[in-house]
Amino acid sequence: MPYPWTYDENIQVGTDYADVQEVLAYDRDMASLRDVAAEVEIVANALLLDADSTVWEIGTGTGEMALGLAARCSRVWATDVSPAMLEAARKKASARGLLNAAFGSGGFLDGFSPDHTVDGVVTQLALHHLPDFWKVAALRRIRSFLAPEGRLFLKDVVFRGDLVDYDGFFSDVVDQLRATAGNRVAGNTIAHIREEYSTFDWILEEMLARTGFRIVDKVAHGFPTDYTCVAT
Ligand SMILES: C[S@@+](CC[C@H](N)C(=O)[O-])C[C@H]1O[C@@H](n2cnc3c(N)ncnc32)[C@H](O)[C@@H]1O
Repeated sequence: MPYPWTYDENIQVGTDYADVQEVLAYDRDMASLRDVAAEVEIVANALLLDADSTVWEIGTGTGEMALGLAARCSRVWATDVSPAMLEAARKKASARGLLNAAFGSGGFLDGFSPDHTVDGVVTQLALHHLPDFWKVAALRRIRSFLAPEGRLFLKDVVFRGDLVDYDGFFSDVVDQLRATAGNRVAGNTIAHIREEYSTFDWILEEMLARTGFRIVDKVAHGFPTDYTCVAT
């Protein structure tokens, strides 16, 4: 850590994704909520990937996106601060015979990273682990790995700035998740709202603009929002 005030991103906030039980349950929980193949397609299109493209995924979790993209492009670097998540991702990579995906210990701020600029960066449901000042540091670092016109796909939970009744909105989100994905996911969502660092859409959008990104597409899914951005 370069300075005594530097944020320690290796300490998990909210849900503990370094916990082996959490990691073992992760893919099953996500399968009840998400369509991985469709997400890979969306990200590959948003980043304009082809067989020669290079990609960095930050906060890869169990590696589903990184491995989906590795099957379609030349090289993927994938990083996470959770050793248990990385172990799960590496096991999948070797079971699927994907040798062009490198998984390493690192976060938004420091650690394992690509050894040159990449064509695209993807990060999903991870940036909110950093408080706002450090989100800007993370976006600056991401920007430094992209050439102009390089692309960033950012999915995260952001809070709509135009709501009046946030408690009503959060109650509906938690009830809906409990019904579709069960009590664990509902509990993790409550912890997310209470303890993690999701911010308002208008703050995140200003952060992107100030760190050298132009938003070219925004899709709000209710709780998470997808941003496709081009490096300026
Ligand atoms: C909710 S999971 C998302 C995993 C995956 N991207 C997905 O979409 O399913 C959040 C992940 O971010 C990781 N994480 C937390 N803080 C991080 C940081 N500062 N840098 C990189 N990854 C981080 C956690 O270890 C966890 O694997």
